[in-house]
Amino acid sequence: MVTAHTTAELGLTALDDEITVDELPIEGEIPSWLSGNLLRTGPATWDVGSTALRHWFDGLAMLHSFTVADGTVSYANKYLDSQTYRSATKAGKLAYGQFATDPCRSIFQRIQSVFSGASTDNANVNIAQLGERFVALTESSIPVEFDQRTLDTAGVPYRAPGQITTAHPHYESGAMLNYAAKLGPRSSYRFYRVDESGIEVLSSIPVRHPSYMHSFGMTENWFVLVEFPLVVEPSAMVLSGKPFIENYRWEPERGTRVTLVDRRSGEVGARYSLEPFFAFHHVNAYEDGSDVVVDLCAYPDARIIQDLYLDRIHEAMRDDARHLQRSYLKRLRLTENGASSEQIGDATIELPRINGRRARQPHRYVWGTGTRHGWIDEIVRLDTADGSSRTWHEPGQYPGEPVFVSNPEATREDDGVLLSVALDTRGGHSTLLILDAETLRPLARAAVPHHIPHHFHGQFSRT
Ligand SMILES: [Fe+2]
Repeated sequence: MVTAHTTAELGLTALDDEITVDELPIEGEIPSWLSGNLLRTGPATWDVGSTALRHWFDGLAMLHSFTVADGTVSYANKYLDSQTYRSATKAGKLAYGQFATDPCRSIFQRIQSVFSGASTDNANVNIAQLGERFVALTESSIPVEFDQRTLDTAGVPYRAPGQITTAHPHYESGAMLNYAAKLGPRSSYRFYRVDESGIEVLSSIPVRHPSYMHSFGMTENWFVLVEFPLVVEPSAMVLSGKPFIENYRWEPERGTRVTLVDRRSGEVGARYSLEPFFAFHHVNAYEDGSDVVVDLCAYPDARIIQDLYLDRIHEAMRDDARHLQRSYLKRLRLTENGASSEQIGDATIELPRINGRRARQPHRYVWGTGTRHGWIDEIVRLDTADGSSRTWHEPGQYPGEPVFVSNPEATREDDGVLLSVALDTRGGHSTLLILDAETLRPLARAAVPHHIPHHFHGQFSRT
């Protein structure tokens, strides 16, 4: 029984219910200015027929919608009706390779799937907005559009120009900008732009051993690729017989290579070399005179990927001493004389968010999640001016990514709220937690009738 779970392990159990609730019970008071829709995606089951998915990132995608208006919150959730989901539910089969779990198939079938462009559409990582349309994203070439109100799946609006892309695009003037890795005899990184009229490839940079990069940086004039030394031999992806991420090798002797690509010409402007490290998430990047500054949540190596296999997560949840590998804010400075890096503050921080108005400009505050004990269990506010931090933590509460929403009349960068879906293991369900972004004081909680499995990202759109 789900209710038997009193630990964060509740968040690794399947959610079967698909519901609509017009008004969630609310404790506290929601600021009267807060009005809009928080859409989130994430895994909601890790069982496909007789196949047990192995990694947190593998689970089948579910959409969640919280609509805030006039001090009330409505909620709905629905599985993303992808091809991956249909074959899982109708045939009990895993039809496509996931992050760390592959279907059983012959080498011939593997090669055939690579050349036919078949890849997973299990878009469980993030939500993106394309004009008035919403899409769920994962790291394959296939985004999945859905209806913001009904959460019904609507189709595939475009395909990324490579087998691998990111679920963390940047936005400018209504367009989405992203990079993809095209693997083959001549592999390349490709930057591309998507708007409602279609997709355009802006730049193609040859690469022999592509790095696993879950996100990238963008300033006013540059795309910033931070190539961690977690790299793949492209032919191995087809021939090895291993799931996607297990084809990548940690080669610290390569160091971390940073490339600036001119956004207008598409040409490489500069390359730098730094110590080996790994990150999933860029925080922000901006130009400071002729320098480029890049903030990311960095790990000393890529062990975190191993730590997020489900068996390892269960171990961390049962034994605080086996906590997840911790990431810290790292600031890169790229200058005409080379690159340097420094850690800012001593707070653990992941799933970072900033005030979106500071994108491509200097930011002061970063909000994210922290790991005080075994599993993600706090929200962190890091002041990059002096490295100081504040945290929100309550026993039995396991918050997710805190999405910053600015007060419309704000004069300060941190005047706003954080929206975080928190698992309340004592109550056996999740809540939409609304915190004051400056003090991290809880302002309100809206109780969802069921638990929402631990998930990744979402976006808030104002109404
Ligand atoms: Fe992410």
